[in-house]
Amino acid sequence: MSFALQAIGLSKTFGSGAGGVKALDDFSLDIPRGGVFGVLGPNGAGKSTLFRLALGLIKPTGGEVRLLEQPAGDPRALRRIGSMIETPRFHPYLTARETLVMLSTQSGAASPDIAGWLARVGIADAADRKTKGFSVGMKQRLGLAAALITRPEVVILDEPTSGMDPSGILEIRALIRELADRDGVTVILASHQLDEVQRVCNRVAFLAKGKLTAVEDLSQTEEKLRILATPQAAVLDILGKRGTADGEAVLAAIARPEAPDLIRALATRGVDVVEARWVGGDLERAYLFHTRS
Ligand SMILES: Nc1ncnc2c1ncn2[C@@H]1O[C@H](COP(=O)(O)OP(=O)(O)OP(=O)(O)O)[C@@H](O)[C@H]1O
Ligand SMILES: [Mg+2]
Repeated sequence: MSFALQAIGLSKTFGSGAGGVKALDDFSLDIPRGGVFGVLGPNGAGKSTLFRLALGLIKPTGGEVRLLEQPAGDPRALRRIGSMIETPRFHPYLTARETLVMLSTQSGAASPDIAGWLARVGIADAADRKTKGFSVGMKQRLGLAAALITRPEVVILDEPTSGMDPSGILEIRALIRELADRDGVTVILASHQLDEVQRVCNRVAFLAKGKLTAVEDLSQTEEKLRILATPQAAVLDILGKRGTADGEAVLAAIARPEAPDLIRALATRGVDVVEARWVGGDLERAYLFHTRS
């Protein structure tokens, strides 16, 4: 098996003495190549620190981290990596297009399709505006294009959709899946949006207080349609084995294309459907369980 990222007994302490913060504490994790890997955990758990260490932006206090089986910061690995750590910053007086031209020239990428990437991240309209006027979401979008334009084998994205509008979130979600499924890129993603993680990630690691608490395969935990309707008994009756009560609601283990038929059937039976929404299986519960203090 070949690995995108490996942390081996990795520690990072910021500051020293009583005021020191252990951001990562003897942390070990293997992320194999392929698919989308989520890194989850509360604020301050150590996610961004892990990414910074892997990219060689900061030095560990102890242990080791490897990217594409090379030591952190090794230029041979970094050339094959794209990354966006928190909200990216750009030269304020360059336009979005100029920014990408400059970054791709620096990295020696072969004739990148800059217009194509601007469109793919949804900022084609702002291509010739200076980035100093960009909103947070626009900077995130440009940051993604900057991370991807060199056609990396592994992309590290730290909260790529924070600050994005809902349609941006959907577009980026689709882009990430496409990168993994069509282009064979390994995506490593930190996010607080559990519904996004549920839809986009194949596997996730949970971090709490600088430690790895669990790794889960998400292909096992399927999403369900949570239906709030009266009478509940009628919903359970129609669903049979595929329905389970969840408080006043019912969780339906059905596939997305079956939802319209189910809701029609409920209406036909005189059931009042107040709400029906997809919920991310057990991820919320798993998150709370694995990151509790
Ligand atoms: N440069 C720094 N100097 C001092 N402390 C730092 C520094 N960078 C991170 N820390 C501390 O290390 C811990 C881990 O921070 P980190 O940014 O890795 O968390 P995170 O999991 O990315 O959180 P978030 O979800 O809020 O982004 C926190 O306690 C943070 O305050
Ligand atoms: Mg962070």
